[in-house]
Amino acid sequence: MLDYQEFLKEILIDEQTLQERISQLGTQISSDYSQKSLHLVCILRGGVLFLTDLMRQISIPHTIDFMAISSYGAGSRQSSGQVRLTMDLKDDIGGRDVLLVEDIVDSGHTLSSVLELLTLRKPASLKVCSLLDKFERREVDVPIDYCGFQIPDAFVFGFGLDLDEYYRDLPFIGIVNTERFQPPE
Ligand code: IMP
Ligand code: MG
Repeated sequence: MLDYQEFLKEILIDEQTLQERISQLGTQISSDYSQKSLHLVCILRGGVLFLTDLMRQISIPHTIDFMAISSYGAGSRQSSGQVRLTMDLKDDIGGRDVLLVEDIVDSGHTLSSVLELLTLRKPASLKVCSLLDKFERREVDVPIDYCGFQIPDAFVFGFGLDLDEYYRDLPFIGIVNTERFQPPE
């Protein structure tokens, strides 16, 4: 596999800016959930770096769990509005204060389906924390209670987000050079 620099057009959000914002989000969440029992639910795989940094900035006791989903029409960025659960949560969320931790909200279809699914399990509360919000591409209205950054309509990678499964480890968010990598449609 080639070095990431081959595919990088420019850095959109550098490491320090990411970490400062994650720290602010952690402080806000700690305060908002101080009287609650916070349960973070991370959507694999993209949300995993965000989760691990965010939880270290949360100063109140909390628990975590993971779920994985895939959009119908795999390989496609254009989700149909339906998602398939490929790995379910380990624990029941009934009666718990759930905060979903996502990497990015694009069309909103994925998040909308996940919210629908989790609502059926009757959590005490269900909110959303997304690192990135590509708001210009929204097709369904979804609430984002905690948002890291609103970003322009460009395909991004790094910090959990992949290019064909690679480069999730990068500590920054980069914009892809579309002359070198064609994002899925
Ligand atoms: P949505 O259902 O259109 O909101 O799609 C959200 C999912 O598409 C995210 O969880 C990502 O997996 C993927 N996605 C959307 N935009 C990007 C991007 O710019 N880079 C990497 N993955 C993305
Ligand atoms: Mg994702």
